[in-house]
Amino acid sequence: MTRVSVRTSAGLDVTIRPAAEDDYEALHAAFAALVLADEGYPHEPGPLLYEEFAHYWLENKSLVAVGCVGRQLAGSYHLTPNFLGRASHIGNGGYFVLPEWRGKGIGTALVTHSLGAARKLGFDAMQFNLVRETNPARQLYERLGFEIVGRIPDAVGGEAGIIYWRRLT
Ligand SMILES: CC(C)(COP(=O)(O)OP(=O)(O)OC[C@H]1O[C@@H](n2cnc3c(N)ncnc32)[C@H](O)[C@@H]1OP(=O)(O)O)[C@@H](O)C(=O)NCCC(=O)NCCS
Repeated sequence: MTRVSVRTSAGLDVTIRPAAEDDYEALHAAFAALVLADEGYPHEPGPLLYEEFAHYWLENKSLVAVGCVGRQLAGSYHLTPNFLGRASHIGNGGYFVLPEWRGKGIGTALVTHSLGAARKLGFDAMQFNLVRETNPARQLYERLGFEIVGRIPDAVGGEAGIIYWRRLT
């Protein structure tokens, strides 16, 4: 993946590029803040050690990308196979945007970019296994063509989880 510059719907220029080691500290801080605020992910809300973050967000990923405005980290995504073996053509993605940068189209830019990157990595479909039912990201995913293929009752703290899927071909 090469570095690209994308203009969001709010007219913001976002650079999307592979994450480098220099980004890891800021990524950890941003993701740990999400977990503490119980936003989006199923982690137990509380402090998140760097090792736990690295294991979840960085290690064994097909791609970890960051979205930056100028030199500031605004968001990130990662891609990984969702399944093993003959189902490994289905990719999985995780996304976040720092609270101060939300609502400006950066999430849309990251998800859109990730779909092209996933295709280039050889995935021909994407699946998200557990999108919490009240997550505003659902609108974004549905706008970008993801369909609901399942609903897991009582998945996270009594809240249901939605399974999303779409083809990339
Ligand atoms: C989900 C998330 C990545 C979206 O990022 P974003 O940069 O706000 O996304 P966008 O600006 O492209 O659009 C998000 C949607 O929320 C709406 N929105 C408006 N203001 C917003 C705000 N302040 N905060 C969040 N969403 C807002 C947008 O209008 C848009 O709705 P639409 O799709 O119907 O147009 C971001 O909210 C986030 O990081 N959430 C916490 C982590 C998370 O839940 N990740 C996904 C796990 S499945």
